[in-house]
Amino acid sequence: TDRVPVLTVDGPTASGKGTLGSALAERLGYHHLDSGALYRATALAALRQGVPAGDEAAVAAIARALPLRFENQQTLLAGEDVSDELRHEAVGSLASQIAALPAVRQALVELQLAFRRLPGLVADGRDMGTVIFPGAALKVFLTANSEQRASRRHKQLISKGISANIESLRADLEARDARDQHRSVAPLRPAEDARLLDNSALSVETSVDQVLDWWDAVQPFGSRATHED
Ligand code: CDP
Ligand code: CDP
Repeated sequence: TDRVPVLTVDGPTASGKGTLGSALAERLGYHHLDSGALYRATALAALRQGVPAGDEAAVAAIARALPLRFENQQTLLAGEDVSDELRHEAVGSLASQIAALPAVRQALVELQLAFRRLPGLVADGRDMGTVIFPGAALKVFLTANSEQRASRRHKQLISKGISANIESLRADLEARDARDQHRSVAPLRPAEDARLLDNSALSVETSVDQVLDWWDAVQPFGSRATHED
């Protein structure tokens, strides 16, 4: 897999990693790993099976045998479309609790590495550039202020018909960021060689173009020339 180029996007909640990651994957014709979905699906499966978030061995067993598939823009858990349910903040919050358990993170490593296939991979999450793909050709650390992030997440939920309060969303996402930054395994932090991108005042298109410019600069053969012809 040494020849398979990887571009990582890490950052806090609702900074736009998923949006940027899927746009980049589409523009480059690469595979896309939304690693947060693996933690969210593990959390949802644990919730449904009545397994408490503190039972590390039991949650790790769920993660190791996660019946998860990504198909035509849908996330399927044991065949059921859970795409919308995974976006609920309650699931995100539980995901960040189980994501602090070392055995759970370990259980998801191989599944994540398996996404690295030709012609390339765009991977987004918290530890893509620091732990899972430390040799990535380009590492982006995406940020935005918490006011912007809360308002973006609010819009997203409302458009899906999920009711939400913007102030409590902001409190939730700040609490989740703090937990993600302060855990002992794979804490949320920029890799030493990451490029920082604050998109608080940028459009999605501008962010995509910025990263594609960086990508072109690190690719010996010029990625856009090869993939857009
Ligand atoms: O994956 P993550 O939680 O980091 O964020 P997301 O699910 O991609 O959500 C970000 C939301 O902010 C989306 O609704 C985007 O349309 C919006 N947004 C963005 O991603 N980037 C900008 N520069 C501006 C807005
Ligand atoms: O979309 P949002 O940024 O809110 O969350 P997500 O990327 O779907 O991730 C949900 C939770 O999973 C995060 O709060 C992290 O605790 C955890 N996670 C992680 O620990 N490592 C990753 N690579 C991805 C997510």
